[in-house]
Amino acid sequence: MLVSATEMLQKAKAGHYAVGQFNINNLEWTKAILTTAQELNSPVILGVSEGAGKYMTGYKTVVGMVNGMMEELGITVPVALHLDHGSYEGCLKCVEAGFSSIMFDGSHYPIDENVEKTKELVKIAHEHGMSIEAEVGSIGGEEDGVIGKGECADPEECKMVADLGIDFLAAGIGNIHGKYPANWEGLSFETLDAIQQRTGIMPLVLHGGTGIPDDMIKKAISLGVAKINVNTECQLSFADATRKYIEAGKDLEGKGFDPRKLLKPGTDAIMATVKEKMELFGSVGKA
Ligand code: G3H
Ligand code: ZN
Repeated sequence: MLVSATEMLQKAKAGHYAVGQFNINNLEWTKAILTTAQELNSPVILGVSEGAGKYMTGYKTVVGMVNGMMEELGITVPVALHLDHGSYEGCLKCVEAGFSSIMFDGSHYPIDENVEKTKELVKIAHEHGMSIEAEVGSIGGEEDGVIGKGECADPEECKMVADLGIDFLAAGIGNIHGKYPANWEGLSFETLDAIQQRTGIMPLVLHGGTGIPDDMIKKAISLGVAKINVNTECQLSFADATRKYIEAGKDLEGKGFDPRKLLKPGTDAIMATVKEKMELFGSVGKA
């Protein structure tokens, strides 16, 4: 059964580890992530961007696929199905469709409007037993059409939004979606520390988890990050393994063109990436 992400993230924050949010795109992605979480006895969050939701034909299809797969795979670890970078309307659709968690990304609105909309959605999410993430200070780069400026959040604004009753908070601290440029200056731990001091026990979320060096990940966890989002890295692993399979001519050998064979190396590569991240984040054995 899907659960809200509140309890797993409160435990993670108290236990000084982080739970991974891995974005899904289709059946292979979902199966790879769920299977790995179960094998490692780790809680997990399945992230769905609005673009990926559309690609999978809609949020109801996603809910049906995830629920059916969890039952048939015998998944017993805590799993949250979470809308990633949602609009106000997208959040309402996911409440309706049966997600267990939503993110309202109001970071591009002036702070008062972000506060107003977040407040309304907190009420709705909690009436449905769902968790809700909000964002302050936009994350840089682009993810599925969501483009951010890449600014550091104002700790006072973070406090304002945290006080609305949200369950976890994403704050820009110099993190970027997608690959980091060679001249990236790194995460601003000064900002993260100030945010954690103002927001207390609130679990903090680090977006743009792809390619952040391990030591920075560990330091971020020590400063209150309890959820880390990874998307691009699974896509890169999948593409790389699939390319190798085709370049080696495997699709031309026997029934190598069968999608169940063609997609296997990529699916295995996602599993390896998820395992590596769960070990780094410290969530293994925490289900
Ligand atoms: O919301 C999702 C993430 O922040 C993923 O970022 O694609 O850079 O790993 P990423
Ligand atoms: Zn993100």
